Amino acid sequence: MKKITLTLLFALVLPVVALADEGMWIPMLLGRNEAAMQKAGMRITAKDIYDINNACLKDAVILFNQGCTGEFVSDQGLFLTNHHCGYYYITSNSTVEHDYLTHGFWAMSREQEIPCKGLTATRLVRMEDVTRQVLQGIDDNTSEQDRERIIKQHIAVITGDAVEGTHYKAVIKPFYYGNQYFMYVNEVFTDVRLVGAPPSNIGKFGGDTDNWMWPRHTGDFSMFRVYVGKDGKPADYSKHNVPYKPLKHLTISLKGVDEGDFTFVFGYPGTTQRYVPHQQMELQALQENPIRIALRDIRLNHYKAAMEQSPAQRLKYASKVASIANGWKKWQGETLGIQRLNGVDQKKAQEKTFQQWADNRPEYRKVLADLDENYRALSPIELKWVYFSEAVMASDIMARARRFNQMAQNIGDDIKAREDAEKFLADNEKFFADFDLHSPVDRAIFVETFLYMWQQGYAPYLDAKGKGEAAIRKHLEGVYDKSMLTNPKEMDKFLKGYKAKDYEKIVKDPAVDLFIVAHAYTYRPEDEFTFDLCRRNIGKLMRTYVRGMMQQYPDSNFFPDANLTLRVAYGHVQGFRPKDAVYYTPYSTLDGIMEKENPDIYDYVVEPRLKELYNTKDYGRYANLRGEMPVAFIATNHTTGGNSGSPVLNADGQLVGINFDRCWEGTMSDLLFDPAYCRNISLDIRYCLFIIDKFAGARHLVDEMTIVE
Ligand code: ARG
Ligand code: GLU
Repeated sequence: MKKITLTLLFALVLPVVALADEGMWIPMLLGRNEAAMQKAGMRITAKDIYDINNACLKDAVILFNQGCTGEFVSDQGLFLTNHHCGYYYITSNSTVEHDYLTHGFWAMSREQEIPCKGLTATRLVRMEDVTRQVLQGIDDNTSEQDRERIIKQHIAVITGDAVEGTHYKAVIKPFYYGNQYFMYVNEVFTDVRLVGAPPSNIGKFGGDTDNWMWPRHTGDFSMFRVYVGKDGKPADYSKHNVPYKPLKHLTISLKGVDEGDFTFVFGYPGTTQRYVPHQQMELQALQENPIRIALRDIRLNHYKAAMEQSPAQRLKYASKVASIANGWKKWQGETLGIQRLNGVDQKKAQEKTFQQWADNRPEYRKVLADLDENYRALSPIELKWVYFSEAVMASDIMARARRFNQMAQNIGDDIKAREDAEKFLADNEKFFADFDLHSPVDRAIFVETFLYMWQQGYAPYLDAKGKGEAAIRKHLEGVYDKSMLTNPKEMDKFLKGYKAKDYEKIVKDPAVDLFIVAHAYTYRPEDEFTFDLCRRNIGKLMRTYVRGMMQQYPDSNFFPDANLTLRVAYGHVQGFRPKDAVYYTPYSTLDGIMEKENPDIYDYVVEPRLKELYNTKDYGRYANLRGEMPVAFIATNHTTGGNSGSPVLNADGQLVGINFDRCWEGTMSDLLFDPAYCRNISLDIRYCLFIIDKFAGARHLVDEMTIVE
């Protein structure tokens, strides 16, 4: 009873406009939020955060590659991001003798800093509303295809003009489903060097078990430095390059934050879907997620069992498991969150009020009905595709079969065929070493995921292979064992003598054959046609729908969905109630690390040096007023993937933390934000500095920073 009234109340009081603390706001338009932010406790101005004429906080924030955020903390180009963002550069620069992943890395001099090939740091120079120019000549009668083409042409011209005669790069992105366009003029730095990273058992403490969870004790940070040419401009790596002098670097506060304190996160959130209709929410959270979760359950169970057998196996599967488990866990939280909030019903209630509003507005009257029609056609196709990516492509043998099949596309050209075979041969060895083409683990994953998909009715092509589960299983095992892909010697021989006409042998290989059949069933041309058509239609309908919602609530400030552009999210440090009778306080400490310590479990090993500091309470100036060593804190800032590494700032715009995760119970915030449950997780900057200074003895790095005590 209570539940029903609460839901109804929710549906009534939560219209489509942003809730308290919800939103990822555009820096250039932050003036609209200034009053609310100051009311919430902020003591600086919108102009301190984004200002086109003066150095401001935005000059201290960078996009780290294309998926994380970082922030400058010294006038020597030093910046901070997450350990999991720098992960690739930490591992790829590690060797058995210099295992930086396990033991950490600290450059004790500039010479020791490690160049990271391919890594970029992007600073926003300025942004501009270019809607009028982008949409020039386009009206309601323009077809979607023409629209896309015209926009592309305009974007090329506008961005070209904007950066002419400069070293900048410009991008233009759609906002509000193409109702608005903003241009970002960026400066892209290409000489970025690794400066420091804590050992894994600090930077990834708690591993996948603690991932997405509170209470959390992960020291998830790493440090890099941007170098530029002598002229101060971005340049590729050269030993003559000099440290970049940012226009602005962040001041670090050691005062910390307490429950109720204002904070904001300034970074690059990747994707949210705040305004989608109920069909999309239902498809994603209630249909797709459970499929993905079930299939990843199968894979994770097999990998984890193998990992428990030996340290070598643990290493072998660690990064694979980390990436599979990250989405797997998030989706579980997301689906539970949507269910708990009756998200789909809430959406339907919103849509009802929209329809009432739209009934006498011809432009909007049919938009919801049309969306429904398109989702009806699109959803079943999308589910098939989910099965393909999560089941067909779950095993290493299928990844290899896909590649093998590509080789067979060169019919009749011997020279090309030899080239392909040589390439295939070249990485064959690596493939057999890194992947698992003849291990019981991959075999089991292959068989079980196909079997599951068949049971759900998504692999009808297996019906002809036998009657009943046992027969299908036997068939699948046969495919695995008979395929030459699982036999290194046979593969070697075949590839060395490969000629174009041998393509027939490839396509007859049982694994390749199965791949071809599964692919043909999933990607029927008529499905692709329908899917493309629906996607376009939905794109256009969403543009109309979102414009309509904004007209329906003309006095509200709508935030645009995240699209990997710089945003500001603000809120408060706050605990929450994840379930009945449980209250989570908003910060964690080193005591919690010692509580979790377990020398037998890899993810919970505590370094002797850290224990020593703990035992002697040698926290220096980094302790909080209670004498504890704070590690992480949670707040109501609305964040998502891409916000990793984002600076978390206090009311005065000083750095107090580094964002690195969200609480599991609130991961539905990409679709639906709930102030009672949605919390971002940040590393307390004091723990970060404590590790650099006291743990690693890299005091010279801390001395570069601007710190207020
Ligand atoms: N959940 C965090 C973020 O997406 C951290 C992921 C890395 N950590 C891990 N244990 N896998 O994305
Ligand atoms: N760990 C995420 C990232 O890599 C942030 C967590 C989230 O909010 O999705 O961006």
